[in-house]
Amino acid sequence: MSGEAGFEAVPTAARTDVAPAVVVERLHYAFGEGEARKGVLFDIWLSVARGEFVIVTGPSGSGKTTLLSLIGALRSPQEGTLRIMGRDIGQLPRRELEDFRQQLGFIFQLHNLFPALTAYQSIQMSLDLHDLSLEEKDARIVAILETLGLAEHLHYKPAKLSGGQRQRVAIARAIVHEPKLVLADEPTAALDEDNSKIVLERFRDLVRRTGTAVLMVTQDARVFESADRLIQLVDGRITSDQRPGD
Ligand SMILES: Nc1ncnc2c1ncn2[C@@H]1O[C@H](COP(=O)(O)OP(=O)(O)OP(=O)(O)O)[C@@H](O)[C@H]1O
Ligand SMILES: [Mg+2]
Repeated sequence: MSGEAGFEAVPTAARTDVAPAVVVERLHYAFGEGEARKGVLFDIWLSVARGEFVIVTGPSGSGKTTLLSLIGALRSPQEGTLRIMGRDIGQLPRRELEDFRQQLGFIFQLHNLFPALTAYQSIQMSLDLHDLSLEEKDARIVAILETLGLAEHLHYKPAKLSGGQRQRVAIARAIVHEPKLVLADEPTAALDEDNSKIVLERFRDLVRRTGTAVLMVTQDARVFESADRLIQLVDGRITSDQRPGD
């Protein structure tokens, strides 16, 4: 209870402007029901600050994608709590979940571009809800596609792009609106070394300029050094959490 009339004390952890980007506590997750039930994540505790770039790595099947999909509210937690930017997403009504997801930047393991949309149109969709003039939107779309080496492919649909080019369109789409949290699942898997570097630079730039937090899953040891923290997930448990190179 707050003592002063007209003043409502808001606990720091619940303030959406200053709360950490991600706080996961006591998270367990299982797929299936009854006898087929299979635990995938066990007792996960994880905190990611604003402006922090965290890489999650670990063997295939260790639960990395499942963890990312829970943090992005694409699945509901069964046990434990997930506070993203100060909001307990296990408690959010369905309608608010939609808004919440739109504020994030998702890059999925299998990029999922709409076949009917050109690179330009895919990225334009991310800016639909943002209050920018048409000129500003156009400038941003063109600039991000150019920095990702796609200046010549603005008006190509996915069928006419290579795997790595599609991947870069998906990355541009996820970051063009400068979300406060980027969740990226193997974003550089289809990219050569130069393009991986460009993508990592874009992430670092976003982190530096706008205090965005990036949580990125990768098996690519070449990019570990770009992160502030490196987390290992093995058989659904965090087995280490340290600075890369330590
Ligand atoms: N929709 C699903 N239904 C049932 N089991 C699933 C489902 N998705 C994933 N799993 C299982 O959960 C475990 C973790 O899968 P997850 O996709 O999170 O692993 P991962 O660490 O991302 O692996 P990879 O590196 O191969 O992408 C695996 O054993 C997988 O078979
Ligand atoms: Mg995965």
